[in-house]
Amino acid sequence: MDVTPVIDWYHANKRDLPWRAPDASPWSILVSEIMLQQTPVSRVLPVWTAWMERWPTPHHLAEATLGEVLQNWNRMGYPRRARNLHNCAITIVRDFDGEVPTGLDDLLGLPGVGDYTARAVACFAFGDPHPVVDTNVKRVIARALHGDAAAGHWSTKEGLSLVDESIDRPVSDEAYCHSQQALMELGALVCTAKNPTCEECPLTTHCQWKLAGYPVDQSVLPRSQARYEGSDRQVRGLILALLRDEPTTHGLDRLEQLWPKTTQLRKAVASLVADGLIQETDSPDGPIYGLSWREPYPGE
Ligand code: ADE
Repeated sequence: MDVTPVIDWYHANKRDLPWRAPDASPWSILVSEIMLQQTPVSRVLPVWTAWMERWPTPHHLAEATLGEVLQNWNRMGYPRRARNLHNCAITIVRDFDGEVPTGLDDLLGLPGVGDYTARAVACFAFGDPHPVVDTNVKRVIARALHGDAAAGHWSTKEGLSLVDESIDRPVSDEAYCHSQQALMELGALVCTAKNPTCEECPLTTHCQWKLAGYPVDQSVLPRSQARYEGSDRQVRGLILALLRDEPTTHGLDRLEQLWPKTTQLRKAVASLVADGLIQETDSPDGPIYGLSWREPYPGE
């Protein structure tokens, strides 16, 4: 994929978010990414702003008490992230001289920093070209390049390599990192899970999902029922209906009138007996069958 149109779209349409400012510190970007892990941008914005005023560096946050940290998390939910962030600050002060580490492995070693967050910080704070793959980015790539409505089946590892492979080379590190921000923003604003606005999309002319006629996401469809006509379920249903509607016992010859395939019918009878739904009783003329229970009739 040529990333130029996506980057151009990004510069013209991106939201003006403070952690995207050119002078945003790596620490402020790490704080934003941890807050954004499970909380939408609109709720993160005021908390992030107050947080960065109060604790502008890892040194400041490392000095705070856990109680203060939790209080200022301000009900964003999943408060384990607040504790992780506090421990990030303590680790950064202790092991990295108060500076957010630049290497992917060091970032991955910080509390609460996983595959996504480590790469987001490496890419957005330090300009290192790593794929930054959240659900929005996966959806854009699944649609534009693979023709699928969603990327539900991709593992983290697959997602990382599929996104990385999708970027045409050569590309500068700067353009690579911008493309990751741009794909994320495109997924958040245009190529949304529901009601995407394809007419605004810079990828629309090549989008495989659009060219394929917008096939639906198979994983969200109710699982289709196995075919009923001709099935063992249908035969069992016919036998039960007869025994319910004519509540006497019947011999096999009568049951065999229900269905032309004798072997299938006998199998169905045996399975109903095994399930305890009908009873088999011996008689001089051979086995006879009746319901194991009888439903009350209307008025009974
Ligand atoms: N969600 C996760 N990271 C983000 C970012 N940097 N900007 C906007 N939304 C995000």
